[in-house]
Amino acid sequence: MKDEITIKGLAHMDTAHDSAIKHVTGRAEYTDDLSEPFGLIHAYLGLSKCAHGRIVAMDLDAVRAAPGVIDVLTAADLPGVNDVSPAGHHDDPILADAEVKFWGQPIFAVVAETRDQARRAAALAKITYDALPHALDPMAAKLADMGYVTDPLTLRRGDADRGMANAPHRIKGRMGIGGQDHFYLEGQIAMAVPGEDEDVIINVSTQHPSEVQHMVAHVLGVPSHSVVVNVRRMGGGFGGKETQMNLFACIAAVAAKKWHRAVKIRPDRDDDMSATGKRHDFVVDYEVGFDDEGRILAVQGDWYARCGFSADLSGPVTDRALFHADNAYYYPDVRVSSHPMRTNTVSNTAFRGFGGPQGVIVAERIIEEIAYALGRDPLEIRQLNLYQNGQLTPYHQEVTDQILPRIFEDLTASSDYAARRQAVLDWNAKGGTIRKGIALTPVKFGISFTATWYNQAGALIHIYSDGSIALNHGGTEMGQGLNTKVAQVVAEAFQCDLSRIKITKTTTEKVPNTSATAASSGTDLNGMAALNAADQIKDRLIDFVAERWQAPRDRVRFVPGHIMAGDTAIPFDEVIKAAYMARIHLSAAGFYKTPEIHWDRATGRGRPFYYFAYGAAVAEVSVDTLTGEYVIDRADVLHDVGRSLNPIIDKGQVEGAFVQGTGWLTCEELWWNEKGELKTHAPSTYKIPLASDRPRIFNVNLADWSENAERSIKRSKAVGEPPFMLGICVFEAINMAVASMNDYREPARLDAPATPERVLMAVERLRG
Ligand code: MTE
Ligand code: MOS
Repeated sequence: MKDEITIKGLAHMDTAHDSAIKHVTGRAEYTDDLSEPFGLIHAYLGLSKCAHGRIVAMDLDAVRAAPGVIDVLTAADLPGVNDVSPAGHHDDPILADAEVKFWGQPIFAVVAETRDQARRAAALAKITYDALPHALDPMAAKLADMGYVTDPLTLRRGDADRGMANAPHRIKGRMGIGGQDHFYLEGQIAMAVPGEDEDVIINVSTQHPSEVQHMVAHVLGVPSHSVVVNVRRMGGGFGGKETQMNLFACIAAVAAKKWHRAVKIRPDRDDDMSATGKRHDFVVDYEVGFDDEGRILAVQGDWYARCGFSADLSGPVTDRALFHADNAYYYPDVRVSSHPMRTNTVSNTAFRGFGGPQGVIVAERIIEEIAYALGRDPLEIRQLNLYQNGQLTPYHQEVTDQILPRIFEDLTASSDYAARRQAVLDWNAKGGTIRKGIALTPVKFGISFTATWYNQAGALIHIYSDGSIALNHGGTEMGQGLNTKVAQVVAEAFQCDLSRIKITKTTTEKVPNTSATAASSGTDLNGMAALNAADQIKDRLIDFVAERWQAPRDRVRFVPGHIMAGDTAIPFDEVIKAAYMARIHLSAAGFYKTPEIHWDRATGRGRPFYYFAYGAAVAEVSVDTLTGEYVIDRADVLHDVGRSLNPIIDKGQVEGAFVQGTGWLTCEELWWNEKGELKTHAPSTYKIPLASDRPRIFNVNLADWSENAERSIKRSKAVGEPPFMLGICVFEAINMAVASMNDYREPARLDAPATPERVLMAVERLRG
């Protein structure tokens, strides 16, 4: 009998991802795998071939005449609002009207019997543009006075000018930090199924079902209650489906309602990459003042971001870059400012870390500057400047949960850092072609949405009369294991076998007004909401059992597979059946909001983060100074997830994030030509890390002694994004190998990504 399986506490914590077998056998259903309704037709987008210009003529006759074409939709055909701006800026048209603002911007949509017909027809449009001046990158945009897409932010504490003036040493620098394509395996996709009246159901690959619901309602001009959004799972989101799917969902919905047929839209990879936003690339001007010991006294910086043509999430993304400009280090006097630059490129968006990585990497560059200037091991400078509990961040939040000293201690020991650094120095001293580098970098990442109202979640639990449990929550599954972790929380609450619980697809019909599954908060928020729902049902069951089996209420307990009434153990199924017969309500909606957080953007003060997640990693690399190519010989990671809900899933997140972080800083390069056309729009030209690029030796460990000091779900910590920034140690190690060309007299100051070309050029410069 299933109930005899003993599950105590978190005994089943090392359970595999609920879809693991389905993923590897191909049986997991993604949006494109759903059985298609009878009469389904397909939509495809026609994209701009001009970075900035007025549309003077649009000849779509050939498109309309192409085989299988049913309709061509332009901006004029949208019944409601032509806007999917998530931030309320009204600057994100679904289809460009009169003016295009980037190469790749959707202008029209073809609707045809088959996807292939729609795709071929879209290519037949003849559009004439009256070209206007364009600026592609943040510095060109600054020169051209393009302005900001959203309000900039400055964080300050103390007096940075005075601190800088009084500092014994000062260094100024500029760093270029590249963007990144999400390269989710499953691309953007939506399928809309029309219903009676104003109803429409949208099946879509999204991290944010509620936002899809609201956007579709706006474009159709109907109330939100007419729109249902479903997502079973995504084949990866990484932030790229937090807002970018809205456009596809809206097009499918409009066509479905117009033709009263189900409509699917799925762009090719090339069009997906051209038409959807990416990680923001930045140019950062920094200045640091420090003393003879290497102690930081003052920091100033300006973060210029390529935001693209519209705001999208650029406000919170550039804010988060500033929130992480200190990484793990105390800056006594500090002023950092964001510059969300408007450019004629696709509107950049959320991507794992949400701007944080572009703050952290500058903090690490500053550490390198100090270390090279003083001829010290960068690790010593890091240790010297780590936050101590009680110190304030540039946004005036007190650090109270610092654990990096212990992480450094454990990691330097387990990775044998000191001896290996000496071996690297000795190796390089021989002056050969292959140079080595080693670096240890930390991360301190703030957990919570900085938009405080987003930190809420809902869940819905039904127990059916046979004792089986249906669990629904507002989060979405994108491979990160959220559903498994939330199910574990509920299984533990009821002390039942995990197989008793089914997590149904995420749907706006069951849990309303959800936040995006983002900011790594999925488990923190939805786990708590599910626990709240479970506790409500448990409360009712305890009352019922106490009365029926004549036991004091405080002697009714949930034990594995059973409920105890005093000394009598009643099987869970039996209790549920009896409760149903006694007309006990066996369903509950749960809710949670993160306590204690607040943030005032106008004053730049508050406690935007409930807590911090910490980690550190050491990488050793070998660089070929004749070609610029490199390999990661070894990486050791020690990461803090508090008390892990599921160590194997958390470890998987850490490994994946680390590799994705190294990809961002090494091989992944976005390149636009001078006309503004993205030329790296397919795997042929955009290189993500392969299995063969992973560290040759890869030791990943969780800091199993850590627990969240705050009352998070089971004292765990969020894991999705923080370890992404550990990839920075690989970049720093490459910098060290290059700097050996000049006996470490100065840092290599590579811009990111450190592609082999860039590495080779830096080698030549320092060889000079
Ligand atoms: N892991 C997988 N496998 N696929 C993804 O798309 N997205 C990352 C991270 N880990 C992602 C992932 C991002 S950007 C975030 S914000 C978190 O997962 C979101 O999920 P969580 O809040 O449940 O951790
Ligand atoms: Mo993650 S960038 O917050 O979706």
